[in-house]
Amino acid sequence: MMLTIPNLLNSAQLDKIHELLAAAEFVDGRLTAGFAAAKVKHNQEMRQDAKRMRLLIRILMASLGQHEIFRFGVLPHRVADPIFARYLPGMHYGDHVDDPIMGSSGPRFRSDVSMTLFLNSPERYDGGELVIRTAFGERKVKLPAGDAVFYPSSSLHQVAEVSRGERLVALTWIQSYVRDAAQRELLYELNQAREALLKESPEAEYTALVDRGYTNLLRMWSEL
Ligand code: NI
Repeated sequence: MMLTIPNLLNSAQLDKIHELLAAAEFVDGRLTAGFAAAKVKHNQEMRQDAKRMRLLIRILMASLGQHEIFRFGVLPHRVADPIFARYLPGMHYGDHVDDPIMGSSGPRFRSDVSMTLFLNSPERYDGGELVIRTAFGERKVKLPAGDAVFYPSSSLHQVAEVSRGERLVALTWIQSYVRDAAQRELLYELNQAREALLKESPEAEYTALVDRGYTNLLRMWSEL
């Protein structure tokens, strides 16, 4: 399942992030890539700098952590510190799947869901689409600044070459309480039905049945 969150960041938050990134140093992205990914990766990433990172994480997590689509669609257990990446003309990232185990400096965890948060508006660059291969064909994603897309970390994806301007994104990876993407999708849809019923018919017996079904399915499928 691919999920998007429009306006995850507002324009004030985007301005603040741009200000922090403008003063940051960017280095070759291959330094953080695994062996296979390094062969196809051609971009730049912000050099980790503790104080700047803390501020960036605070801005990002303040919006992400409480967003309903994130909470119920991704069922986040652990969220990696974000990476800020930029692609200048000629840069791209060829077909790859994301690293399965994250957290080289802190506790390790599994990547189930990948996030790309777009920081520059699509008019500011040509190319640079995130191309995700799904069972139903290719999906090309290039969203307004402030919008985020979530997709299974196991899916084959690439970033098309940028031919003009600058593609600036924040990336993170999430270990979900529910490892299986099909189970997450089912829970997400069932929860939408549950919430509608709780609002419209809070006293009905069928609402209680759906509510219990959701709760116990989540218990059955979640792992800590
Ligand atoms: Ni990737």
